[in-house]
Amino acid sequence: MPETIAISGASGHIGGRVARLLAPSAARLRLLGRHVEHIAPIDGATTATIDFGDPTTVAAALDGVGTFFFVSATESADRAAQQAAVVNAAKDAGVHRIVYLSFVGAAPDATFTFARDHWYTEQAIRASGLAFTFLRDNQYQDIIPHFADADGVIEGPAGDGEVAAVTRADVADCAAAVLDSDAHYGETFDLTGPRAFTLRTATADMSEVLGRPFRYVEQTVEQAYASRAKYNAPTWEVDGWVSTYTSIAQGDLAQVTDAVPHLTGHPATDFRKFLATLPKDA
Ligand SMILES: NC(=O)c1ccc[n+]([C@@H]2O[C@H](COP(=O)([O-])OP(=O)(O)OC[C@H]3O[C@@H](n4cnc5c(N)ncnc54)[C@H](OP(=O)(O)O)[C@@H]3O)[C@@H](O)[C@H]2O)c1
Repeated sequence: MPETIAISGASGHIGGRVARLLAPSAARLRLLGRHVEHIAPIDGATTATIDFGDPTTVAAALDGVGTFFFVSATESADRAAQQAAVVNAAKDAGVHRIVYLSFVGAAPDATFTFARDHWYTEQAIRASGLAFTFLRDNQYQDIIPHFADADGVIEGPAGDGEVAAVTRADVADCAAAVLDSDAHYGETFDLTGPRAFTLRTATADMSEVLGRPFRYVEQTVEQAYASRAKYNAPTWEVDGWVSTYTSIAQGDLAQVTDAVPHLTGHPATDFRKFLATLPKDA
């Protein structure tokens, strides 16, 4: 009997698209989320509740699962510890392979502070002895237009650094290809778009393709913190927001790879082509 594949984050962008791509094998699919009512149903697939902060839900959700597509959680102060506990629960439940959605440059001292959680999770997976594949995505192209304020201004300390941003759709296509194969055990892929660009170039592309003005305004790190103080967000979160830009400035997100075409057989989507798919008022 074919093994069960569990997909967390199935109500989200990546997990949802991966579930749709694997729908022809629906009888093998278990779709997981904190709120199963938010998961789009797929004929023949089952659903189960999983909350990474509640290990009993993790054990029940992964019982009998062979491969677990572990979509990283929304950022939180204790995400690294919660995700390490998920790995242990997955092992106890009998999972034999984890395909983990990580981030490029995951390291304990990564400039992009949210990438540190990914390193700790990768380490927990390695230490578990389970088979794994790490899919380290670059910045999503999809969210770059959302960096802009209502006036079309993207402000941050990104300097002249470049970002090899990738579409969510391409990331999901890579994940589906890996989950659908028995290959890629022990491999790590950096998932990128076909070119790296500065945020200044991104705003020029956005102006041209979306048909309204966008511009990039360089900030110092101090200005970046000051301009985000109005949100009254916790320090760990503001650190993550600001280091999104400083990691670009450092060149940490600049490397372009051929992982998307290698895994999917189709070219990685260019940012301008992605923008052309958006409604003009996006
Ligand atoms: N590369 C990038 O630029 C970038 C940007 C933002 C985020 N990310 C990371 O990439 C992940 C996937 O991206 P996406 O676009 O698919 O995100 P998304 O649309 O926000 O979906 C996230 C999914 O994860 C689930 N989830 C979040 N926290 C959870 C928890 N503690 N326990 C169990 N499930 C949880 C959510 O379930 P609910 O419906 O129950 O909330 C949702 O289904 C994100 O979760 C985040 O870790 C990457």
